[in-house]
Amino acid sequence: MKISIIGTGYVGLVTGACFAELGNTVICADNNSKKISSLKKCIIPIYEPGLEELVKINVKKKRLIFTTSVREAVVNSEVIFIAVGTPSLDNGEADLTGVENVARNIALNLNGYRLIVEKSTVPVETGKWVKHTIATYVKRNIKFDIASNPEFLREGQAINDFMHPDRIVIGVESKKARDILVSLYEPLNAPMVVTDIKSAELIKHASNSFLATKISFINAISHICEKVGADVVEVAQGMGLDKRIGPGFLNAGIGYGGSCFPKDVDAFISIAEKLGCNLDLLDAVKAVNEQQKSLFISKIKDLLWIIKDKTIGVLGLSFKPNTDDIRNAPSIDIIKSLQAEGAKIKIYDPSSMEKAEELLDKVKFCKDPYETCKGSDCLLVVTEWDEFKELDFSKVKKMLKRPFVIDGRNIYEPERMKKLGFTYIGIGRGRRS
Ligand code: UGA
Repeated sequence: MKISIIGTGYVGLVTGACFAELGNTVICADNNSKKISSLKKCIIPIYEPGLEELVKINVKKKRLIFTTSVREAVVNSEVIFIAVGTPSLDNGEADLTGVENVARNIALNLNGYRLIVEKSTVPVETGKWVKHTIATYVKRNIKFDIASNPEFLREGQAINDFMHPDRIVIGVESKKARDILVSLYEPLNAPMVVTDIKSAELIKHASNSFLATKISFINAISHICEKVGADVVEVAQGMGLDKRIGPGFLNAGIGYGGSCFPKDVDAFISIAEKLGCNLDLLDAVKAVNEQQKSLFISKIKDLLWIIKDKTIGVLGLSFKPNTDDIRNAPSIDIIKSLQAEGAKIKIYDPSSMEKAEELLDKVKFCKDPYETCKGSDCLLVVTEWDEFKELDFSKVKKMLKRPFVIDGRNIYEPERMKKLGFTYIGIGRGRRS
């Protein structure tokens, strides 16, 4: 099929490259000319394993084309995906200015039937407004369909998530739109949920909010574990084996971050408020998420008492491993709080130190984990990168001023750390041995 994707952010670019890989001809359009000229040279603005290779192969095969012209994209494709950003406004609501702009631009360039698909994460009823906008601005009486096809890609494993999805959600209001999207996704051989547009829109916000709820739930339980001397890892294992609960997203830690969960939880709360529905549950989810960061800081104080003038080594920055994304990363808030109390911070992260330079002042970026440990009063783990799981602990111990490790992601075993001579504190691992 001939497809165009408007918006080459994270979702747009991964979706475009993967559709091209499946044999479609894909035009990716973006109004950022610098980004487009880099992409034409196969320079990828984000860190995503496997994406660069996929872009290179498909650009070479002429199945993946980049342009700044929405007109070129609209005129030369049968299906148009809207994948522009929907950031949070100050009141938590999603800012749909980008979506509205693209809808108008599509309308002005429409020269025949097109299927226009919302891929961006949008509030329920956005489809209705996109349809209204296109109908308002389209020049002649040209037919078009609207559909919703939310994405469920995780940063760091987006290509695998696209190629092997748990499900594909398609929200449509005509058979023609349904047939187009079903045949586009058929090669993936994945379960499909075909529904109306509003239900599809809701599936996205409900899914992300539910996952955030799971994380906050286990984080709240981890606090109880600490109070009574139980182990949250084993509690989560015992819960997760129940098929109705499932083991995923039950890792206690320093809270969820990233560009999706915080924004989507806020947007869903604001949608519910507007509709006069009660979603107080999500306010509690947010509160627990914030609390995880302050609880983490209090663990540091429990060990060091006074933070002022202490050197604290931090392993990790990105909101999770295998990405360079530091948007809403808990690490940033934690580091800033420690600095506010007068701590000196040393950091190592495999991918996101360059990005963090813009956000963090007066920190020492280190070349590896060991340099981070050198002369530090304690070591914090804030992102569970694989390379942190396999450190040479005798070296770590020699380098630290005191053998203090506070593990915000539970990547080490408390018993082993104790045997190695560390004072080790995880999250919710309160069992006294
Ligand atoms: C999330 C969803 O998982 C995707 O399905 C969705 O498509 C995407 O948002 C989106 O809306 O675009 P992502 O933000 O890439 O994906 O990251 P996740 O892997 O879901 O992790 C989110 C945060 O939760 C991270 O900070 C992670 O450390 C934290 N987390 C995750 C936990 O603290 N505990 C867990 O058990 C799982």
